[in-house]
Amino acid sequence: MIGGGQGAYIGNIHRIAARLDGEWQLVAGAFDVNPEFGREFARSQGIDDDRSYGTYDEFIAGEVAREDRVDAVAICTPNFTHYPIAKALIEAGFDVICEKPLTATLEDAVQLENLATETGRFVGVTYTYSGYPMVHEARVRVARGDIGNIRTVQVEYPLEWMATAIEQKGNAQAAWRTDPKKNGRGGSIGDIGTHAYHLAGFVTGLKLQFLTADLATFVEGRALDDNAHVMMRYEGGARGLLWSSQVALGNSNGVRLRVFGETGSLSWYQEQPNELIYAPLDGCVQVVKRGAENLSEDAKVRTRTPPGHPEGYLEAFANLYAGFAEAIVARREGRAPEALGQNLPLAYDGLKGVAFVEAVVDSSEATEPVWLRPIAV
Ligand code: NAI
Repeated sequence: MIGGGQGAYIGNIHRIAARLDGEWQLVAGAFDVNPEFGREFARSQGIDDDRSYGTYDEFIAGEVAREDRVDAVAICTPNFTHYPIAKALIEAGFDVICEKPLTATLEDAVQLENLATETGRFVGVTYTYSGYPMVHEARVRVARGDIGNIRTVQVEYPLEWMATAIEQKGNAQAAWRTDPKKNGRGGSIGDIGTHAYHLAGFVTGLKLQFLTADLATFVEGRALDDNAHVMMRYEGGARGLLWSSQVALGNSNGVRLRVFGETGSLSWYQEQPNELIYAPLDGCVQVVKRGAENLSEDAKVRTRTPPGHPEGYLEAFANLYAGFAEAIVARREGRAPEALGQNLPLAYDGLKGVAFVEAVVDSSEATEPVWLRPIAV
């Protein structure tokens, strides 16, 4: 692991998720931008001193020289560091699990995706919400025609934690997220809009054609958007609306997706992640529960406990890790991955997210309202 040291947020979620199914073992890392803190943290995680590195360059030099070198490296650092770290790792021959957004700039995302394609290295991107079994169930149901042709998609990711200027009061996570050099051009749209955009595309299979966007910065002194409204036109005529917000009081992690087709709709809400609401044309609305008998194979392979024993965020994240393990092992064994190792978020999905952010910011900055097409859809 690179990053994810003491006090960091997502690194710990990666470690829990990676451990859940016993497929991964954390054996080496450069955990902190401060090498000393990183080594101290490594000791607290039981990492051998000779595999605790001060920087990612040292990590690469040390691991390349070992016969038991790591199988893959998770990048859990702020956005602007993803590109140099991932590039160096891929060039050194490592498979990579990278946090979203894939990079802070579109140029870097294009280069990284090219590098992944050219080298054939595995690059998984942790779009967390595509790990949930009921999100997979929704995807399968849309694909087999349960709701008919899609008319409109409503997706939102409202948060409240940045409703005041916490970046000016010592909050480390908010500080880099509001610095364009470290975060990239899109504030809320880059941080959480990318999750929403991926979720909508993942479930519906729709390709974005054009978008027009309106970004706002409500907290005084903040350099990036903290609220985004995006109207989308998909290929084939479906329409979409995406809302991301870091200032939506009352919302902790209210990721919500609603897909409306000609013969039914599907709704999923991450704070009730074990349920999918299916509303067919006849008005008999159904609550489809995780763990139920008649669910798809894609949902079943991502389910650990019987219905009624709740699963959630950590299990969804673990499903990504289990999927990454299966995809990497399958590639090494020269076989097609089983269901768990399919439909994973990969480098191209990461590039799509960064291209989306670029088009959203360009559209919002235009003096006249303008519809734009992202370079990767
Ligand atoms: P954070 O600020 O809490 O942690 C960043 C960590 O990276 C710190 O330990 C820091 O010392 C370390 N670091 C920074 N530069 C480094 C370098 N050059 N070498 C080694 N370590 C370095 O950040 P947070 O909130 O954990 O976010 C990290 C990434 O994860 C971001 O890209 C963010 O967008 C993403 N994220 C993804 C989520 C998801 O749902 N998939 C949720 C939260 C964050």
